[in-house]
Amino acid sequence: MNIKAVIFDLDGVLTDTAGHHYFAWKEIAFKLGLNLTHEHNEKLKGVSRSESLELICNWANSNISKADKLKLLEEKNNRYLESIENLSAKDILPGVTDFLNDLDSRGLSLAVGSSSKNARFILRKIGLERRFTAIVDGNMVAKTKPDPEVFIKAAEFMGKAAENCLVVEDAPAGVQAGKKAGMWVWGLGNPAELNLADICTTGLQGFTIDSIKELMHSA
Ligand code: BG6
Ligand code: MG
Repeated sequence: MNIKAVIFDLDGVLTDTAGHHYFAWKEIAFKLGLNLTHEHNEKLKGVSRSESLELICNWANSNISKADKLKLLEEKNNRYLESIENLSAKDILPGVTDFLNDLDSRGLSLAVGSSSKNARFILRKIGLERRFTAIVDGNMVAKTKPDPEVFIKAAEFMGKAAENCLVVEDAPAGVQAGKKAGMWVWGLGNPAELNLADICTTGLQGFTIDSIKELMHSA
C-alpha cells in the first residue's frame, strides 16, 4: 500500500453540512406528501441535487412536470443556502485540520471530490479552499457518485494513479464510487451502511495517515 494522495468528500467529511441538506430535502419531500426519514436520507448522501429529487419523486409516487421539478430544485438550493449562511471555520468537523496538517507534513497531495455544485463556495466559507491541489465538484462531472468520475478526475489533476489514492467518504454512494475508481476507501459512519469501505471509523479525529494505513493493512 503506497498512498500518495488523499481525496476528501466535502459534505459530512470536511464540514457538517449533511444535516442541512437533509432538512432542506425534508421540506421539499413534505410538499410531495413524503415524510423523508433517515433511511431515505442515507440513499441521498453523495447523490447529485437533480438525482436526489428523482429519488424523492419515486418514493413519493409523484409525477410532477419537468418545470415543477426545476422549481423544486431551485427552492431546495435556496433553502439549503439560507441554512448554511453562517457556516464558517467553526463548522470544520473534528480532526480535519489535524489530519490535513499531518498529510501536508508527510508531503501527500490533497484533493476534494464532491457531488455538490456549492463545493467551492462552502470550502471558501470554512477557509479550506487553498489547502487542496484539486477541487472537483458537481459542476465538473457528467456523472456523479456512485460513478467514479469525480475521483478519477481529482487523481488526474494531481497526477496520481488510482492505487495510490485514498478516498475519505461518509456516503454509501461515495464509497462505491471510490471502490469503482480502484482507490482505497476510508468510510466515516455506520460500518453496516459503508460495508464496501476498506476501513470505517466514526470520524477523522485521532488518526494520522500512518495509523490509517496500519488499520487498513490489518483489516
Ligand atoms: C453531496 C451531498 O455532497 O452533494 C448531497 O452529500 C447533495 O446531499 C449533493 O445533494 C449535491 O449538492 P448541491 O450543493 O449541489 O445541492
Ligand atoms: Mg458526503
